Amino acid sequence: MVFTREEIQGRVTEMAEEITEAYGPDDQLLVLGLLKGSFIFLADLVRQIQHPLQVDFLVASSYGNDTKSSGHVNLLYDPEASVEGRSVILVEDIIDSGNTMNRLVPLLWGRGPKSLEICALLHKRVASLDTEPRWVGFDAPLEFLVGYGLDYGEEFRHLPFIGSL
Ligand code: IMP
Ligand code: MG
Repeated sequence: MVFTREEIQGRVTEMAEEITEAYGPDDQLLVLGLLKGSFIFLADLVRQIQHPLQVDFLVASSYGNDTKSSGHVNLLYDPEASVEGRSVILVEDIIDSGNTMNRLVPLLWGRGPKSLEICALLHKRVASLDTEPRWVGFDAPLEFLVGYGLDYGEEFRHLPFIGSL
């Protein structure tokens, strides 16, 4: 067990409070979840943000069924919700090599958001990122983690805690 259900819930509540405080009445919040890994985190997070918001998803793929990043990031689904003028929060389950974020952040900036912030549940702190996440749940050990949305070959996403493979 790396992070228990209770530890995760406590931290997600804190992050939602920080996000709530960070935005004002003029911000049209768009919470963009990176599928599939962020789906549980995003669901828990948005229900505790006390600000009007919209939710959409991006599908990027870099791992296939391997535990190591392939280095290629493919966008398989692109959000319908317009990013222009919105205060966008990109929600990611875990930042490892940083390839995904380094590719997606410039792509989204190109669509003219009012602001763009990254919110990651886990951060392995090994990536050289062009933009550091504004909100991070936990620094993660350098192990392959599963549960609470994170998978290994599509298994284990449903576990309510985060464990090491
Ligand atoms: P990056 O592009 O290398 O930063 O990897 C980001 C993506 O790889 C994440 O969204 C995850 O889907 C996946 N990933 C990275 N590390 C892990 C892990 O420890 N367990 C499960 N998935 C991971
Ligand atoms: Mg992912």
